[in-house]
Amino acid sequence: MPFLTRKSHTRESLARDLSAAGVNAGDVLIVHSSLKKVGWIAGGAQEMIRALQETIGPEGTLLMPTFTFSLSGWLLPPFDPWNTASRVGLLTDTFWRCTDVRRTAHPTHSVAAWGRLAAKFTSGPISYEPLGIDSPIDRACRAGAKILLIGVEQNRNSTIHVAEARAGMPYLRVPFTIDDLYDEAWYIDSRGAPAKFLAIREMPGSSEGFEVLDNLLIQKNIATRCVVGDATSTIMSAPRLCDHVMQLLQEDPLLLLDHPNPSEITKRRRAIIEAQLSANHGGAA
Ligand SMILES: CC(C)(COP(=O)(O)OP(=O)(O)OC[C@H]1O[C@@H](n2cnc3c(N)ncnc32)[C@H](O)[C@@H]1OP(=O)(O)O)[C@@H](O)C(=O)NCCC(=O)NCCS
Repeated sequence: MPFLTRKSHTRESLARDLSAAGVNAGDVLIVHSSLKKVGWIAGGAQEMIRALQETIGPEGTLLMPTFTFSLSGWLLPPFDPWNTASRVGLLTDTFWRCTDVRRTAHPTHSVAAWGRLAAKFTSGPISYEPLGIDSPIDRACRAGAKILLIGVEQNRNSTIHVAEARAGMPYLRVPFTIDDLYDEAWYIDSRGAPAKFLAIREMPGSSEGFEVLDNLLIQKNIATRCVVGDATSTIMSAPRLCDHVMQLLQEDPLLLLDHPNPSEITKRRRAIIEAQLSANHGGAA
């Protein structure tokens, strides 16, 4: 009777895919992922992480979101950087637990980083806006990062929120929850002190509207399709992406708020821009 063998990817085969995708030694690399889309990996998430680390090498820097959305109003426990599981994928939750990986203490949008510039991207106070100016993703973008979307699309690309922040989009100030002046997150600090509260202003959200960029960025050669394991993936330069999205937002401030099934926050954000546009239009008349 023939043996049934499961087709599996390995650290070596994944590293080959990453190199073919354009990931190079010394890169600063931001990764968003769906592990299921990659197909079976011998050794699991750990081996995918080793493939990423070996491809960028010791001079490279790897970043992943480890967001937990620890808002007190959502009845989630206070964020503890040493314990709270990432809510944005198994790869990310495995990554922050690895040796020599640093994790920021941001209670909603923590980020984990490994490599040469990890300390530079993750140090400092956590009073910055989650994905705004001087956040780890913004710092990585300024350092010339590449973004690799493994098996996911632009609606998972956090750097687009950085572009919104850099463009000063007024809708970012619309609270995430319906009736708060701002959203309140809570966390245990790095010394293990009891829960503290942090007002999160300019909460990112509305990323369903980022879908409009999927084909557009490919057509404009800002993003390129590639394959990692079985996963249709996308790679791009973060600075080029940011510059292009800022330009698009200047031309059309509603661009990223357009979706057939908009969330409540997207509807409220649209209303802000529409009111502004009609005020400008009235003023010009
Ligand atoms: C939500 C999301 C993480 C779900 O993706 P997913 O592939 O279903 O889940 P994960 O990446 O967590 O991987 C877990 C899966 O890995 C798979 N897996 C387990 N071992 C594996 C192995 N050895 N090889 C390959 N896959 C394996 C399992 O199927 C597991 O799913 P299961 O627990 O349902 O069986 C993904 O769609 C996503 O959005 N990713 C991006 C998140 C992000 O970066 N957000 C930030 C901006 S909002």
